[in-house]
Amino acid sequence: MKESLKVIIDGDRIKARISELAREISDDYRDKRPILVAVLKGSFVFVADLVRELDIDFVVDFIAIGSYGAGKKSTGAVKLIKDLNHDISGEDVIFVEDVVDSGNTLSYIYANFLARRPKSIEVVTLLNKMDNREANLSIKYTGFDIPGEFVVGYGLDLDEKYRGLPYIASFK
Ligand code: IMP
Ligand code: MG
Repeated sequence: MKESLKVIIDGDRIKARISELAREISDDYRDKRPILVAVLKGSFVFVADLVRELDIDFVVDFIAIGSYGAGKKSTGAVKLIKDLNHDISGEDVIFVEDVVDSGNTLSYIYANFLARRPKSIEVVTLLNKMDNREANLSIKYTGFDIPGEFVVGYGLDLDEKYRGLPYIASFK
């Protein structure tokens, strides 16, 4: 393991929790066909593991949002870098996030997507950092509640590093 890192959620726990989330989502969307909107880049690992545990029909699509600048601190600015390929009007949308921190990114996309008149919008996030929340959000499916410290691994990066780690780690 990288020397300055401390594992906070190991790969086995992540795998087990994703199975539970997938079961809940499969139960809730049994006769529907939700559009899973993965928010790039951080959620690409999570969504890949999540979809392999779902036993319902779904569509997967991707958007890319810029929120963080370089380093661990948010710039506060949010913009849509890559939009969906699908029309979501009348559809059941589930945002797939790696981590919700201030919540500013998610509230921006929420507002942007509501204007497209989907039938429903829910959120699944692997990690939820309540300590730093600024926006008022409702998150239906949460993998793990964690403290407000910066984490990497399992898709999450620090300046593009550490995305491939099979666990979630913080810095010592
Ligand atoms: P928010 O807008 O503050 O909720 O931040 C959301 C986005 O910031 C996430 O989708 C991540 O891309 C990034 N982010 C927030 N916290 C972390 C972290 O601890 N590690 C890596 N990226 C993070
Ligand atoms: Mg993200």
